[in-house]
Amino acid sequence: MKRTKVKSALNDKAIGQEICLKGWVRTRRGSKNVSFIALNDGSTINNIQVVAEGDHFDEDLLKKITTGAAISVIGILVESKGSGQNVEVLAAAIEVLGEADADEYPLQPKKHSLDFLREKAHLRFRTNTFSAVFRLRHALTFAVHKFFNDKGFANIHTPIITGADAEGAGEMFQVTTLDLEMIPETGKVDYSEDFFGSKTNLTVSGQLEAELAAMALGQVYTFGPTFRAENSNTSRHLSEFWMIEPEVAFADLEENMDLAEEFLKYCIQYCITHCEDDLRFLDSRLENEEKSMKKEERSEMGLLEKLQFVIENDFVRLTYREAIDILRNSKPNKKKKFKYIIEGFGADLQSEHERYLVEKKFKKPVIITDYPKGIKAFYMKQNEDGETVRAMDILFPQIGEIVGGSQREDNLQKLEQRMDEMKVDKEELWWYLESRKFGSCTHSGFGLGFERLIMFVTGMKNIRDVIPFPRTPQNADF
Ligand code: 4AD
Ligand code: MG
Repeated sequence: MKRTKVKSALNDKAIGQEICLKGWVRTRRGSKNVSFIALNDGSTINNIQVVAEGDHFDEDLLKKITTGAAISVIGILVESKGSGQNVEVLAAAIEVLGEADADEYPLQPKKHSLDFLREKAHLRFRTNTFSAVFRLRHALTFAVHKFFNDKGFANIHTPIITGADAEGAGEMFQVTTLDLEMIPETGKVDYSEDFFGSKTNLTVSGQLEAELAAMALGQVYTFGPTFRAENSNTSRHLSEFWMIEPEVAFADLEENMDLAEEFLKYCIQYCITHCEDDLRFLDSRLENEEKSMKKEERSEMGLLEKLQFVIENDFVRLTYREAIDILRNSKPNKKKKFKYIIEGFGADLQSEHERYLVEKKFKKPVIITDYPKGIKAFYMKQNEDGETVRAMDILFPQIGEIVGGSQREDNLQKLEQRMDEMKVDKEELWWYLESRKFGSCTHSGFGLGFERLIMFVTGMKNIRDVIPFPRTPQNADF
């Protein structure tokens, strides 16, 4: 018999029909006479109730129907007599496909902490919270591709192994087949002996290659894994994360910001439209989680309310200089409440400053533009003032920086000069420089940290909880 998904059984309500369900037991309760099994198959956050009357099933079988077991059920879909569900399945036959020994199975039908579940990442998909998060992660992946496809962008697969340091920050994981235990005593490694005949690493960004494609296809985007050997053990950093990087020929910074804002709103709206049940679950999860927090630490809005708010309001746009003025004169700066006191132009914005602007001052997403060139990457377009570059960062409540982008330096001489100043190897990036030599034009792009977007949409507070198997310093389990 063909399997019916729990989602369609609950939605289609084909009362009176015999159906076959397969899934995992969340709970079984009841008496000797009748068992109520909450069954979930991942198609929806909602369980279906299976009613197994005691005289139909022998005790040995029922004993094996424990939390975590995989079972197959054949039965009639009926209207439910109990409260809490509209329909239920009256079981005629149950087969236990895979047992889950109750003494050993780590997930009990009770609330587990997220820390505990992180150690059980191989099983945490089976909880309501994580199944909802990963269904949303999928929905967002699909929304990303749909958004760009509908606008006529081409998806470009940029290399994962590369010789380039796209951000010039030196935070790369080396890729080598050389034997690290056989490093020559001189300490000098001959990379011509290495697998690719040169020094290579995992990519930190697909931007540079995307720029090349944009110089022919006009509008492109990448969506791939990126790797950063940055030793930041925070709730917002991963060593392996996914990034979406659009790149648009003939677009300036203004158009770049418009695209990013439209894109973020589209992705959020997509989830509201297509993932109502999961979002409602996560909304109440967050509300419960925050009950134990101090009032001033709680979110001002519920999850759904916050998502709706972001869609309905324009992002605030201001320059770095304006942001610094606001921060310098802010209460926490004057009272020395910030860990990093803002003195003036040139200061890098820390997450405490970003959060102040977004959560206290404007209470809206904020786009900051025109940062000092000293704190931004070599490829950004230099402004006339000689001090700032055409950069933009989008800051979100609770998340901080969610997008980083810029108009690119399209003038060959200026780009080379900046690379020299910042000690970026021009020879290594000869191919990038040629894009400024042949048919160069105004162009812009940005990078969206996919996991940070998922954090925002799901309300999860730790980035480790929105990627199936997080990689962070000292941790690459699973
Ligand atoms: O600001 P970033 O470093 O910009 C770039 O990589 C550019 N090449 C993008 C471009 O213009 N095409 O990174 C972009 C975004 C950040 O805003 C942040 O959301 C995310 O990537 N990000 C991280 N997410 C998780 N863990 C990390 N370690 C991250 N580093 C950056
Ligand atoms: Mg950045």
